[in-house]
Amino acid sequence: MVRSGRRHLPLVALLALLGTDMAAAAPNLCVANQNGVWSDQEELDRVGACKVCSADGTRCEQCWEFFSMNSSGDCVPCKATEYGEGTGAALTCISCKADDPSHCYNCGGRFLLREEPDDFQGFYADANGKCIQCPTPHCAECQNVTGVCLQCEPGYGLVGFFFDPAAAACTPCKAGCARCESADECSGCDYGYLPDPATGQCAPCPSNCQECSAANQCSQCKSGHTNVTTDGSACAACADPLCSFCAEGVDKCTSCSENGFGPDPATKRCVACTTPNCSSCSDSAATCTECGPGYVLDGATGACEPCKVQNCSWCRISSQTGQEECESCLNGYTSSVANADPITACVPGSA
Ligand SMILES: *[C@@H]1O[C@H](CO)[C@@H](O)[C@H](O)[C@H]1NC(C)=O
Ligand SMILES: *[C@@H]1O[C@H](CO)[C@@H](O)[C@H](O)[C@H]1NC(C)=O
Ligand SMILES: *[C@@H]1O[C@H](CO)[C@@H](O)[C@H](O)[C@H]1NC(C)=O
Ligand SMILES: *[C@@H]1O[C@H](CO)[C@@H](O)[C@H](O)[C@H]1NC(C)=O
Ligand SMILES: *[C@@H]1O[C@H](CO)[C@@H](O)[C@H](O)[C@H]1NC(C)=O
Repeated sequence: MVRSGRRHLPLVALLALLGTDMAAAAPNLCVANQNGVWSDQEELDRVGACKVCSADGTRCEQCWEFFSMNSSGDCVPCKATEYGEGTGAALTCISCKADDPSHCYNCGGRFLLREEPDDFQGFYADANGKCIQCPTPHCAECQNVTGVCLQCEPGYGLVGFFFDPAAAACTPCKAGCARCESADECSGCDYGYLPDPATGQCAPCPSNCQECSAANQCSQCKSGHTNVTTDGSACAACADPLCSFCAEGVDKCTSCSENGFGPDPATKRCVACTTPNCSSCSDSAATCTECGPGYVLDGATGACEPCKVQNCSWCRISSQTGQEECESCLNGYTSSVANADPITACVPGSA
């Protein structure tokens, strides 16, 4: 709950300042919040969300974004339209009507349709101030009130807008293109591709190459790979599966992956972490620093112990209670109580 942008002086202080007969006319002093939307809850509770106070300092003239002024002159939080649990809506209301915080003028956030690949739609504020999913599939941003698409989600280009905005559609960019104005005009390539001025599209880098300066010139191989030709035209997998970089050659590891320790200076190879169910070790192969899903590090023994909650994927010892708490469930399981923190039981189902 956010309190008003006004600060009431204690009555005793007012009486001392003004004399008892003037107390009734005492002004309510406005306090401008300097940090605005970056304030923490404690600061909002203390000073409120007024952005600009009136010249005489008695009232708030303008509230910060995400707040609107009610008829008493207080800045109250805008309320985004409610969508139920599990609908994929992650929504905020950036500006709303004075006196009606539920009437949104500018909706922020997105509607996640599918996690993989990251597929979402934006929201717009309709004429009634309700936040609605943009009607055009794969549209990231659309016009207030009309819902006409202005910008597509990454990997899609807006087509047809010029001829008939209302009929504009988002079409997939061509292979290797991360952002496009239309399917024919690519403006940014995916990792592993480079712009090809001849086609206006993206051409693949050499295989297993993450970044290249030309189609046969790799400047950075993918993790776990190294350039195996002196001209950088090819990348090959490091010989050691625990190796993440082998810049000096496929059999000479320079950096081990998280679940490996080393490399050993003599053999240039990595040693697997020795603690069972450990996902990351440092200092030595036997010093586990992080356990795999479903396990928690026992600070006293250094062992990975199964989470107490069955089918929990991530549990940790709370610094506040000293108790083990489950934070998330394994894939295919969900908290028995929605939004529970900590989770007390993981049951079959999806979040
Ligand atoms: C305005 O907001 C403040 C703080 O939330 C509240 O105390 C007050 O009653 C509101 N005024 C009206 C008219 O709703
Ligand atoms: C919607 O309207 C708000 C102001 O009410 C404006 O700030 C915002 O940019 C508009 N959004 C779009 C996509 O036109
Ligand atoms: C990889 O490229 C670097 C310079 O970019 C070079 O120093 C190194 O010798 C190359 N490694 C191999 C195996 O060709
Ligand atoms: C945890 O380690 C034990 C002993 O090495 C092994 O049997 C078990 O399969 C491991 N659990 C997981 C989830 O990998
Ligand atoms: C989930 O927990 C149950 C016990 O509640 C257990 O029988 C089952 O093997 C677990 N499933 C997985 C995938 O760990």
